[in-house]
This record gives sequence, structure tokens and C-alpha cells, in this order.
Amino acid sequence: MHILLILGLLATLLAPGSGLSCEECFSLGGPCSGPVLPCGPGEDACMSGMGHYTLEGRTLLIAFRSCLEPGSCRTTHFSLTFRPGVTVRANVTCCHEDGCNMGVVELPSVSSVPNGRLCPSCYVEGAGQCKRMEPLPCTGAEDHCVEFTGTLSAGNMSLTKAAAGCGTPGACQKRVGVTKYARGIFDTLTRAVCYPAPHGEL
Ligand SMILES: *[C@@H]1O[C@H](CO)[C@@H](O)[C@H](O)[C@H]1NC(C)=O
Ligand SMILES: *[C@@H]1O[C@H](CO)[C@@H](O)[C@H](O)[C@H]1NC(C)=O
Repeated sequence: MHILLILGLLATLLAPGSGLSCEECFSLGGPCSGPVLPCGPGEDACMSGMGHYTLEGRTLLIAFRSCLEPGSCRTTHFSLTFRPGVTVRANVTCCHEDGCNMGVVELPSVSSVPNGRLCPSCYVEGAGQCKRMEPLPCTGAEDHCVEFTGTLSAGNMSLTKAAAGCGTPGACQKRVGVTKYARGIFDTLTRAVCYPAPHGEL
């Protein structure tokens, strides 16, 4: 009897899948919600995230929730300004209990109050590098200078860009290589630079 019980327990523990269930959804354009589904093998974390891009009048909101491998799942939030009117805000949360990735995801708030720092800035889509940098006064909590080159892929959408500007310290977590934010959402960076923004005036 005891042996059977232990064998049964072992079978449960060794069964494929982690036993964790997470909400699964993806949307371009607004918040998303979906069913809570069992995770696959090796997916021992739940993530929820939102990215908001303002690209000179165009706005892109990406919302996503899924199971994820624990090694890929990172809690991070940041805001970036590459030019006035070209901004990125993102908030990604990682958790480890059934359905813990449900609920509202807030985007980091941004301030337009100058903080006395200055960074080289540029933004080019579809290019591997910036040709010309313009000095950009940083605002609010964006007290680091950043430079990123790479491609963000989400579903069938992809955005290749070379960008530089001001960012919050959270943006310094970005690394060269492929970062998987959720199932089907990848950021591939060929260049990632981050350093404290020097004080300066235009
Ligand atoms: C990120 O979203 C979580 C909810 O998923 C929220 O609790 C947190 O305050 C948000 N962080 C920022 C900086 O907006
Ligand atoms: C991308 O996928 C969405 C639905 O998932 C579809 O409506 C849209 O037409 C697709 N776009 C392209 C360029 O394939």
C-alpha cells in the first residue's frame, strides 16, 4: 500500500509538464485576457507583460501572458526616450503560482520634467546603425544613456531599429543576444550599451 502510494507520487512528480498553470494571451492594440492553461515541460514560471511604443504619432501596445522557462522569465520595468515623441515603456512580471499572471499590468509612468542630464539620441527603423546623434535632455527617472540595435518580434510583427537616448536604470538589464519575453515574443539585440547620463545643458 505504502509502496503504491510512493510510486504514485513519483509518477505524478515525474510526469511531463510542471503542474503549473498560467493565463495565456497575446494582443496587439490593447490589454489581453485568455484561458488559464497547463504549462509545458520545463515551463515553471508565469509571466505577464505589456509594452507601449510611441513612434511619432503611431502607437503600438503589445500585451502578453504565458508560461515561460524560469531562465527566461525576468521581472523588469523601464521607460526609454529616443527622441521627443519616440518612447518605449514596458513592464514584465514573473511569478510562480497557478494563475498568478492574471490581473492588470500597469505601465511605468513617465515625467516630462528635465532632470539636468543629457544623452546622445537617434532613432532609425529598418537600419543597423544610427548615422547622426542629436543631444537629448533627459526627463524624470530616465537618468541613464542607452544605445540599442536589434529586432523586436511579436507574433507576425517585427520592428528592426537602431536607437539611442535616455532610459531608466531598468533598461540596463537588456543584453546582446536573444531575450524571450513570452512565447512568440523575442527581442534580438546586436548592440546594448547603458551608462549613467552625464549632467549637461544644450
Ligand atoms: C508593473 O505591473 C505590476 C502588475 O503586473 C504592478 O504591480 C507594478 O506596479 C507595475 N510596475 C510599474 C513600474 O508600473
Ligand atoms: C498578423 O496576424 C494577425 C492576426 O493574428 C492578422 O490579423 C494580420 O493580418 C497578420 N498580419 C500579417 C502582415 O500577416
